[in-house]
Order: sequence, then C-alpha cells, then structure tokens
Amino acid sequence: MISNLLSKIASHAGNDRLMRPSRGKLLGGLMVAMGVVATMGMVGLSHASQDAQFPMPEGKTYIEECGGCHTAYAPGLLPARSWIKLMSGLSRHFGDDASLEDKTRDKLTADLVALAADSRAANALMQRINAAIPASATPERISKTGFFNFMHDEVSGSIWRRPRIGTPSNCMACHTKTEAGRYHEREVHIPK
Ligand code: HEC
Ligand code: HEC
Repeated sequence: MISNLLSKIASHAGNDRLMRPSRGKLLGGLMVAMGVVATMGMVGLSHASQDAQFPMPEGKTYIEECGGCHTAYAPGLLPARSWIKLMSGLSRHFGDDASLEDKTRDKLTADLVALAADSRAANALMQRINAAIPASATPERISKTGFFNFMHDEVSGSIWRRPRIGTPSNCMACHTKTEAGRYHEREVHIPK
C-alpha cells in the first residue's frame, strides 16, 4: 500500500514538473504570437494561482480561535474525518489545551468539514491532497502527509530548522497569505 501511495505521489510530481513550465511557455508563446496585451498575462496568472488557493471559513472566528497559536490551516489540507477527530480532542491538542465552547467548536467543525479536502467544495489541488491520503488513515498533522513531503521536496532539512521557521507546521513563516487560504509557490518567501 505504501508503494502504491508513493508511486501515486511520484506520478503527480512528474506531471507537475512536466506541466508547469510547459503551461507557462505555451502561454508566453501565445501572447507573443498574438501580440496580446498584459491583461491576457494576468488571466494566465490568476488561473495558475487558483491551483494553490483554498477556500477559508467565512467570518473571523476561525482565524481568531485557530490562528492564535499557529497558522490558521486551510480546511482543504485535510479530509473531513481528520478535522472531526481533531475537533473532538481539543482539550488534548498536541500537548496543549485548545478547548472551545461547545457552540463555537460545533460551528467551526461544520465549517472545516464543509471545506475539507474531500468536500464538495474541493478544487483540483484539494482533490489531489485527498487522493494522496489512504482511505484507512486519519492524519491529524498536515505536515506529516505524503502530499506535504512531495510539495516540499525541494526545501532542505536545515531550512525547516531556521529560527524564524522552527517547524514545518509553521506554514505562514514562508506562505505569507495563509489567512486568505493562499499557498501559491509564487508567493513563498523563505525567511533567512
Ligand atoms: C493553545 C494553542 C493552540 C490553539 C488555540 C490551537 N492549536 Fe492547533 N496546534 C497547537 C500546537 C502546539 C500544535 C503542534 C505544533 C507543532 O508541533 O509544530 C498544533 C498543531 C495543529 C495541527 C497540525 C499541524 C501540522 O503539523 O500539520 C492542526 C491541523 C491544528 N493544530 C489545528 C488546529 C485547529 C483547527 C484549531 C482551532 C480549533 C487549533 N489548532 C487551535 C496549538 C494550538
Ligand atoms: C520553509 C518554508 C515553508 C514552510 C514552513 C511551508 N512551505 Fe509550503 N512551500 C514552500 C516552498 C518553497 C514551496 C514551493 C516548492 C517547490 O516548488 O518545490 C511550497 C509549496 C507549497 C504548496 C504548493 C504550492 C503551489 O503553488 O503548487 C502548498 C499547497 C504548500 N506549500 C502548503 C504548505 C502548508 C500547508 C504548510 C504548513 C503545514 C507549508 N506549506 C509550510 C515553503 C514552505
């Protein structure tokens, strides 16, 4: 099963490496050939950035309650079963007590489930994240999923340990727009 998952991820990786540059080249070529104006390039850009755009719960509650200790992780980074497990154990949350009032907890759980990787809201990237998680697994850490490792295979071990990063869980150290659900590689800024 593990080798299955690995080959699935490997083929995703292959696709990405092959397709990303050629898509750019193709767009570039088209623009030169057609002599079109900059707006056309912006259409191309906004299309590409949708790839790493996750929907976020409406309102401020999620960011306030779940973004105080760490990045307010986009719900689409884990399947619904993971969020349900995580939200039902908040009093013992990775060594911390992150308990909420029942009403707030239930509202946030519903929001997380509605926008999870296996929800109807799932875009192409979320569907790939979901497909890379075995149906028998319920991960509570995004940073330990195979998908996370494949997405970050070009980030070397010593970078994660830099003082302003500290841990792979600290998405917002490098992805500066996580509160808006944006993780696009174009917007990555790795602190020195
Ligand atoms: C009191 C502080 C605190 C609050 C509040 C809190 N967390 Fe956490 N959370 C932690 C700690 C500590 C970790 C472990 C971080 C690490 O090991 O790097 C963690 C880890 C996580 C992870 C795994 C991150 C990874 O490595 O991929 C998820 C997912 C998560 N929290 C979701 C939530 C959600 C959802 C809420 C809101 C209901 C929440 N957290 C509120 C302290 C908190
Ligand atoms: C050390 C900085 C750093 C941290 C911390 C980090 N990332 Fe990344 N992330 C990157 C870099 C660099 C890339 C681009 C990698 C590449 O193209 O090989 C990336 C790529 C991604 C992508 C794909 C973006 C795209 O345009 O396709 C996603 C999704 C992502 N990261 C999510 C996360 C999440 C979720 C976390 C936290 C749990 C996180 N990252 C933590 C540096 C980081």
